[in-house]
Amino acid sequence: MTMTVATMMCMCLLLLQLSITFFVFMCCVGNGNARITSAFVRSEFPSVDIPLDNKVFAVPKGYNAPQQVHITQGDYDGKAVIISWVTTDEPGPSKVQYGTSEKTYYYAAEGTTTNYTFYKYQSGYIHHCLVDGLEFDTKYYYKIGSGNSSREFWFQTPPEIDPDAPYIFGIIGDLGQTYNSLSTLEHYMHSEGQTVLFVGDLSYADRYQYNDVGVRWDTWGRFVEQSAAYQPWIWSAGNHEIEYMPYMGEVLPFKSYLYRFPTPYAASKSSSPLWYAIRRASAHIIVLSSYSPFVTYTPQWLWLAEEFKRVNREKTPWLIVLMHVPIYNSNEAHFMEGESIRAAFESWFILNKVDIVFAGHVHAYERSYRISNIHYSVSSGDPYPVPDESAPVYITVGDGGNQEGLAGRFRDPQPDYSAFREASYGHSTLEIKNRTHAFYRWNRNSDGKQVPTDSFVLHNQYCMIKYEIFSVEKYALTYIYIKDTKYHLYIIQDFERGIKSYKIFDLLTNLITCIRYYVLVNPSAVYVYICMYIYICVYIYIVN
Ligand SMILES: *[C@@H]1O[C@H](CO)[C@@H](O)[C@H](O)[C@H]1NC(C)=O
Ligand SMILES: *[C@@H]1O[C@H](CO)[C@@H](O)[C@H](O)[C@H]1NC(C)=O
Ligand SMILES: *[C@@H]1O[C@H](CO)[C@@H](O)[C@H](O)[C@H]1NC(C)=O
Ligand SMILES: [Fe+2]
Repeated sequence: MTMTVATMMCMCLLLLQLSITFFVFMCCVGNGNARITSAFVRSEFPSVDIPLDNKVFAVPKGYNAPQQVHITQGDYDGKAVIISWVTTDEPGPSKVQYGTSEKTYYYAAEGTTTNYTFYKYQSGYIHHCLVDGLEFDTKYYYKIGSGNSSREFWFQTPPEIDPDAPYIFGIIGDLGQTYNSLSTLEHYMHSEGQTVLFVGDLSYADRYQYNDVGVRWDTWGRFVEQSAAYQPWIWSAGNHEIEYMPYMGEVLPFKSYLYRFPTPYAASKSSSPLWYAIRRASAHIIVLSSYSPFVTYTPQWLWLAEEFKRVNREKTPWLIVLMHVPIYNSNEAHFMEGESIRAAFESWFILNKVDIVFAGHVHAYERSYRISNIHYSVSSGDPYPVPDESAPVYITVGDGGNQEGLAGRFRDPQPDYSAFREASYGHSTLEIKNRTHAFYRWNRNSDGKQVPTDSFVLHNQYCMIKYEIFSVEKYALTYIYIKDTKYHLYIIQDFERGIKSYKIFDLLTNLITCIRYYVLVNPSAVYVYICMYIYICVYIYIVN
C-alpha cells in the first residue's frame, strides 16, 4: 500500500517489456520442435500366424473345460467385472464362484450362455458372467467350470475413483497371433500394467476363410488368456472385427466380436457395445467405434455429446479416448482415413481438453505434439494443424505384431505435428502418478527384450493449469469497454496455488499461460489482454 503511482507505472512498463520478451520467446519455442523419424525398423519374426498346434493355443484338458477366459470391466466405476469363457462339450454351467482368498469361494454369480455359427463353423458355448458389488482395491480369486476340469484365476479391482489414484494402463493394438504378437504380449505381461486399453483389431481371424475364421478366433482367445483372464482388457473394435463376408453368407458386422467380447455399455447409457465409457481409478476412458456411424445426430454422436457432459475432471482428471483409426497419422498406410472422424469429433476433444487419444490401425508407432485443426472449413481457413495447448496428444500403437506386417513407409518430410515415429512392434504403458502427472512410455520389441524407446511426462490437461474465471467485483474489475466492445477479464490460476499467495514470479508464469491461451482463443485481442492482465497483476501485487 506504500507504493506510489510512479512505482506502479514503472512496474507496469517492466512487466510489459518482460511479457513481450516472453511472447517472442514462446513463438520460438512453438516452432522449435525436434521431430524424430526413427531409423529403427524391427520385425523379429516373419509375419505369419503361429501354427495351430503350438502350445500357446493349447486347449485345457478335461471334459467341458473352460477356455479362452477373459475379463473386462463390468460397470461404470470398476466395482464389477464381466468374466467370459468358452466350453465345447455342453452349455452349462455358467457359474462363477469367487472370494477374496484362494480356494475359498464364498460368493457365486450366474452368467449366461450363447453360441453362434459363422459359415459352417459352430462356436463353442460362450459364457458371460457379470460379477458385481465388489470392493475396490481388492484381490479376488475366481473359479469356473465344474469337477476336475474347473479352473481358477484371480484379478485385482481398481482403487476407488479418486483424482489422485495412481494406476498403470497398458496400450496394445492390432495384436493378431504371430510370434511378434507373442513377443508383444510377453513384454506387456512383464510390465507393471494393471489393465489393457485395447485399440482394436484383435485376432485377424478375418484373414482366413470359411470355418477357419471361427477357429482363429478360438486360438486367439486361448492365446490372450494368459493376460486377459487376470486383468481387464478394455475392448474397442477395429476393421478386422467387421467380418462382412457375403461370399460365405456372413453379412452381420462385428458378429464374432460381439458374441465373444462383451462391454459394459449400458452403464454409460450407450445403446451399443461398440461405443461406451468407463471410469477407472483417476481416469475416464471413452471408447469410440471408427466403423459405426458417427456423423451429426447418429447414436454414437449423440451419446458422445452426453458422455462428455458426464466427465467430472474433479473426480477423474485423466480423460482418455480410444478409437481404432488414428486422426493424426503420417504413415503412407491408412493416410487420411481418420479425416471424417476428425471432422466430427476433434473440436470436442479440444473443448473438453482430452489428455490423450490412443489409436491403432497403422502397424507402426507414432506420437503427435499437441495440435489441432479445428478452424479449417471447406470455404475458408488454414487447413494445416497448429500447436494447441488444449489439444490431446495423439498416439498410434497399431504395432502389436499381426500377420499383415509392419507399415514401414512414413511420409516424407515428417509433418510438423508428428513428434516421433518408428516402424517396429511393441506396446505402450501409461503410468498415472496423481492428478497432475503421468509417465508415458512406448516399448519396442527388440531381440527378445522390451526397450523403452519413446517416453515423456504427460501433464494433465485439466489439473496442471486451471483456467479460473474470477468475478471482477472481487478485484474491482469485471470487464472493461474498449471501443464499445466488452472484454471480460480472465485470470489463470495455477492449480496448486491460491491467488492470494501469488508472488511476482508466479504472476509472470501465469502471464505466459494467459497470453498463450488468448492467442488461441482470440488472436486479435492479444494486446488488450496483455495490458489488462498486467493491470490486474500489479493490482494483486499491491493488495498483497
Ligand atoms: C447352440 O447350441 C445348441 C445346443 O447345442 C444347438 O442346438 C444350436 O443349434 C446352437 N445354435 C447356434 C446358433 O449355433
Ligand atoms: C474327472 O472326473 C470324471 C467324472 O467325475 C472322471 O470320469 C475322470 O476320470 C476324472 N479325470 C481325472 C483326470 O481325474
Ligand atoms: C505428482 O507426481 C509427480 C511425479 O511423480 C510429482 O513430481 C508431483 O510432486 C506429484 N504431485 C503431487 C501434488 O503429489
Ligand atoms: Fe485396422
